Parts: sequence; structure tokens; C-alpha cells
Amino acid sequence: MPSSNTLLLAGLFMPMVLGLPAPQMTYEENTGDVGGVNPPIPTFTGSVGDLRGSTDLQGGLASRPPISGGDSAVVSDPELVPGQEADGDLGLYLDFNDAKYPNGPQPIRGDRGGTDPGPRTYEYEKLNPDLYAPPATDQGDMPNAMWPLGLSHNRLGTGKESGWARQQNTAVLPIASEMAGVDMRLAPHAYRELHWHTAAEWALVLKGSARVAAIDTDGASFIDDVTAGDVWFFPEGVPHSIQALEEGVEFLLVFNDGNFSEDETFLATEMMLRTPISVWAKDLQVDQEALANIPDDEKYIFNGTPAPANITEQNITSSAGALWGATGYTYHWSQQEFHNTTGGSVKILDPATFPVASGFSAALVVLEPGAMREVHWHTQSDEWSYFLQGSARITVYSAPSSSRTYDFTAGSVGYIEKSAGHYVENTGTDDVIFLEVLQAPKFSDISASQWLALMPRQVVKDTLNLSDEVLDSLPKEKTLIKPGNPNMTAIASEGKA
Ligand SMILES: *[C@@H]1O[C@H](CO)[C@@H](O)[C@H](O)[C@H]1NC(C)=O
Ligand SMILES: *[C@@H]1O[C@H](CO)[C@@H](O)[C@H](O)[C@H]1NC(C)=O
Ligand SMILES: *[C@@H]1O[C@H](CO)[C@@H](O)[C@H](O)[C@H]1NC(C)=O
Ligand SMILES: *[C@@H]1O[C@H](CO)[C@@H](O)[C@H](O)[C@H]1NC(C)=O
Ligand SMILES: *[C@@H]1O[C@H](CO)[C@@H](O)[C@H](O)[C@H]1NC(C)=O
Ligand SMILES: *[C@@H]1O[C@H](CO)[C@@H](O)[C@H](O)[C@H]1NC(C)=O
Repeated sequence: MPSSNTLLLAGLFMPMVLGLPAPQMTYEENTGDVGGVNPPIPTFTGSVGDLRGSTDLQGGLASRPPISGGDSAVVSDPELVPGQEADGDLGLYLDFNDAKYPNGPQPIRGDRGGTDPGPRTYEYEKLNPDLYAPPATDQGDMPNAMWPLGLSHNRLGTGKESGWARQQNTAVLPIASEMAGVDMRLAPHAYRELHWHTAAEWALVLKGSARVAAIDTDGASFIDDVTAGDVWFFPEGVPHSIQALEEGVEFLLVFNDGNFSEDETFLATEMMLRTPISVWAKDLQVDQEALANIPDDEKYIFNGTPAPANITEQNITSSAGALWGATGYTYHWSQQEFHNTTGGSVKILDPATFPVASGFSAALVVLEPGAMREVHWHTQSDEWSYFLQGSARITVYSAPSSSRTYDFTAGSVGYIEKSAGHYVENTGTDDVIFLEVLQAPKFSDISASQWLALMPRQVVKDTLNLSDEVLDSLPKEKTLIKPGNPNMTAIASEGKA
């Protein structure tokens, strides 16, 4: 840890340390037994009663405390960042990155809030300025809509540096009932053990390449190689194989069940272990000795034999033939061009071109600095989103009068319920790249600005009291992305919009 941080931490904890009784623990010497070392045995020298204070300290009995000096709640010279004092309804993005503890950041927005004397974890506050100093337009109680995968427990593979997986499901993000996500890493040549599950699996390759294989209920088989930007899909119950190719792979899995858990899949090893060997001998029509070497535990993520470069060598078919084209389990999305527009780019993948993934519709969106995925909502499904790059914020508006704003960075999952209004605004200096996934047969949304443009003008005017000039400027076509000034506080100098 850099020394400046150490000093900050020391500064933070010093008053508390001074207020605590001296530690009463001593440690026996480590005598170093044969075959190992003795763990130090803590010895408590007082009695448990010594840990409690006198009943004379009860209110009304104890002397009144000094109310000034000591561990004061005074925060002198609070440091505010550009835009923080602007009208709270403007809700400008506050860049807390340069604000230094203890003078900043501070949970102040416009004329509301107040200074924070601590304790605090200011790295979280810097990452989440819209939770710490919310726009004045945020209102009411809202279920949490964000989960950074960096806070997920990481399950490590069984082989030496074979990989890992971490997940987001309803256990950590209760609102996310329709979809769950997993971020998985496989080292070069490593496998995710042969398995299947009750949920359908839609995957986006984030880095590297993998070979995937599966069969369907007719015994038709599938094998293909996918690379960063490509997608695969395995329907409910379809058993599949995933092996990293020579540079390894990292991929994102999205399941159509918010309660999905990566730790509760059906596994090839466990299937063998949990059924009598005599049954397997009969089922596979072999002697039981032939089954003597099956592993005695699940393999999960483990290192493997390099896949042959020639995929044909691993292509095995029955009379049912191969799954390909419209019945194939992959879509080479990396090869699809983006639709480029002012402020960013979009491409869509839904059953129109990837019919096997019948319930999954997705968009990959690139937002330039200052640009925004326009205010919209989805009519048929909740939205599961994932940030691949950059930093952005989302305000979720929920009926009738609640809203909350969340800040996202690469590796974070967002979840927005069906019909809830939202936007995604690039708040950083790099392009934002994010994925929107819906449980819908077609990627679709209602654009707020297009809606207002296509309603009878008089109705909108009487409802929202917008000028003719504004109404004239509304886009009749869906725009998806709106460009904007990358200086997120520039509007502050214009006063209230
Ligand atoms: C998910 O789990 C919750 C809580 O246990 C339960 O109420 C809900 O029915 C489950 N949903 C599904 C689709 O199984
Ligand atoms: C696998 O073999 C089948 C049948 O021979 C063929 O149709 C399919 O294209 C092959 N797949 C690959 C990836 O070579
Ligand atoms: C790939 O493997 C198949 C099946 O073993 C073989 O017929 C074919 O010639 C191989 N192709 C190349 C380019 O080696
Ligand atoms: C379109 O946008 C994509 C994604 O940002 C970018 O990689 C590509 O270069 C753009 N194409 C053109 C012609 O500008
Ligand atoms: C619309 O706004 C204008 C300007 O503030 C105001 O004068 C007018 O009363 C408003 N109309 C309604 C119907 O609220
Ligand atoms: C952003 O705009 C504000 C208000 O006009 C201005 O004070 C500030 O210097 C600008 N920041 C940058 C980085 O240009």
C-alpha cells in the first residue's frame, strides 16, 4: 500500500484507537514442534467481566460528557468538485477522482446533503458519486440495480492456474429475477467440465478463443470455434463442452433464470459417481473394470490436452447429422459490422439472425465520451446489462415516482425491470462498451423522445408545457444514441436547463 494511503488510514483510525482499552492478549512462544510449527495460542489474562464498564456510566448517572474537542464531527474546508454546487435537479456527473480525503469527496449536491466526518470507505464513494451525492431528481426507495463482479466470490479451478468463475445471481442482486450472469476464465487448453443445467445459456466471448461442442435431443451434434466478440447458445438441458484454445479465453454467460448458480450444474463426473457402477457397466456395455479410473470428485475447471487445430478431427456425427446454420449453437457476432451513428455505434443480435437462441435478444453498444444511450424502456422483458469498457451511469425510473442513479465501470452488471425508464450515459473519457440482454423474441425498445415526437403536438404541449421550438426538434425516427459534451459539468455555467 502506498505510504500516502497508510497515512490516511492512520489518520482515520487514530481517534478510535485512542478511545479503546489497551489490548489484553499475550501470545505464547512458538516452540516449533517436529513436523511443523505451533500456532500461537492467545492467552487472555483478565476476566471477561473486565470487558464491561461500570453501571455508573448509564445515562443520568454518569457525568455529562464534554461536547466539544476530542473526536469532533467538524469538517473544515470541505472540498467540492465542479458541478457539485449547481442546481441539484441538473444532476451533473460529479468526478470525485481528484477529491482527496478527508476534505473530499463530500455528499453534497446543490444546497442539500452535508459533510461526512466518517468513518467511510472513500474508494467506494469515488466510484459511486451518484449514490453518495444523488441528483435531486432521485426519489423514493428502489431495489438495488447494480452488482460489480469485482465483489463476487471467485471460485478457482481445480487444476494449477486452470481458471476461475464468479457469478451474479439473485443471491447478490435480488431484483435480477429473470437473468443471472457468470464471468469465466479458462487458461490455455483448460476445460469447463462437461455439464448441463436447467437454464438456457447465452455467452459472449470477451477475450481469446474457445472450442464449444454439444448435442441435441435428436443426437445431432455441433462443434465450432469462437473468438472474442462471438456468441454461443445452449438451450435448457443441452450438455456441452467448452475448451480454451491456445491463448486461453474469458467469457460472459447469461442465463434465463435469476436464481441460476454455477455451483449447481449437472456434471459428467458426478453423473458417473452418483449412479451404481454396475448400471454404468450395463449402460456403456463394458466390464466394470473399465470404469476403475473415473475421477473421484468433480473436475469443474481443469487443465486439458490441447485441442487439435483441425476441428474436423473432433467432429463426430450420428445419422441425425450436424447442427449448423439456423440450428447451430454459435453466431460469429465479431464479424458483424456496427451501425455507426452520431455519438456511437450499435449492433443487435436476436432470433431474426440467431434463431436457436429463441428467447435472447441483445445489443452491443459503443458510446463516445459525453454520449448517451437515449432514454428508453423495454416492453417485453427485464434488461440484464454488462459493461465491457469505460464508465457510465444509469438512472432507473420506476412507477409511479421513484428513481435512483447508479455508476458503472467495466465488469459491472446492471439490471433494469421491464417497463422501467432508463438511459446509459458515458461519464468517462474513454468509449463505453456495454451489452444489453433481454428475454424477448426481438430486440426492441420504446424511445422516449420518439414517443413525444409522434404524439399529437397539442397533447404533449398541454401535458409537459414544452415550447414549439422544442417540439419541432424532436426526432421522428429512433436514434438509439444521443451525442453530448464530454465535459459533464459544462452545462453548469448555463444555469438551470
Ligand atoms: C428464485 O428464488 C426465489 C427465492 O428463493 C423464489 O421465490 C423464486 O420462485 C425462484 N425463482 C425461480 C424462477 O425459481
Ligand atoms: C461436422 O460434420 C458434419 C457432417 O459431416 C458437417 O456437416 C459439419 O459441417 C462438420 N462440422 C465442422 C465444424 O466441420
Ligand atoms: C482435418 O482432419 C480431417 C479428418 O481427420 C482430414 O480428413 C483432413 O484432411 C484434415 N485437414 C487438414 C487441413 O489437415
Ligand atoms: C463503427 O464503429 C465501430 C465501433 O465503435 C468502430 O470499430 C468502427 O471503426 C466504426 N466504423 C466506421 C466506418 O467509422
Ligand atoms: C407553461 O410555462 C410558462 C412559462 O413558465 C408559464 O407561463 C405557463 O403558465 C405554463 N403553462 C402551464 C399550463 O403550466
Ligand atoms: C468544463 O466546463 C466547466 C464549465 O464551463 C469549466 O469550468 C471547466 O473548466 C470545463 N472542464 C474542462 C476539462 O474543460
